[in-house]
Amino acid sequence: MNSGRLRLMRSGDLARVLSWRNHPDVCQFMYTSHEISPEEHEQWFARNSEAPGVWLLIYEVDSAPVGFVNISLTRCAQVADWGFYLAPDAEPGTGRSLGEAALRYAFEELELHKLCGQALGFNERSVRFHERLGFTREGVLREQHCDGERYHDVICFGLLAAEWKNSK
Ligand SMILES: CC(C)(COP(=O)(O)OP(=O)(O)OC[C@H]1O[C@@H](n2cnc3c(N)ncnc32)[C@H](O)[C@@H]1OP(=O)(O)O)[C@@H](O)C(=O)NCCC(=O)NCCS
Repeated sequence: MNSGRLRLMRSGDLARVLSWRNHPDVCQFMYTSHEISPEEHEQWFARNSEAPGVWLLIYEVDSAPVGFVNISLTRCAQVADWGFYLAPDAEPGTGRSLGEAALRYAFEELELHKLCGQALGFNERSVRFHERLGFTREGVLREQHCDGERYHDVICFGLLAAEWKNSK
């Protein structure tokens, strides 16, 4: 698997990112799983693409877009949350390389102190993904998310810059 690069999302990426986000392989693992309309998606992009402390990023391998990463500062200085998804047809191994590129971006370019992730309890791939990248499972918010019918646990992950640097 070639390693890729992250770049800022542009308006030209909107249609592709919407098709990924609305795909059942992705939306079943998001907090909002309804079909997002192009108008809602454009409003989300307009709100966030220029917002301070928010980075909407496209992960490219060999110049082809294969994933999306969102990094948002929390109220605490240099502590951020992240979210991400792959193109549903991405090759095996793309997730791992996207994760590694995102951690370099977070800790080298943005100089974050800590990156935090949350996964729905049934999202086993995301749980394994965070653990493989070196995140610590910091806690479980029990039955914190309702999908309209059932409540699900939310698993919280955190990775400190010092831990990431030591593991390299
Ligand atoms: C979460 C996500 C980014 C994790 O990526 P990933 O699935 O670990 O991606 P990879 O491409 O690295 O690995 C895919 C699988 O192929 C395996 N794999 C990795 N490299 C491989 C290779 N070279 N050859 C064959 N298999 C490989 C991995 O072990 C993984 O198997 P697993 O799911 O049993 O652990 C991805 O699953 C995704 O986009 N999910 C939908 C959206 C989502 O859940 N986002 C997170 C919300 S918290």
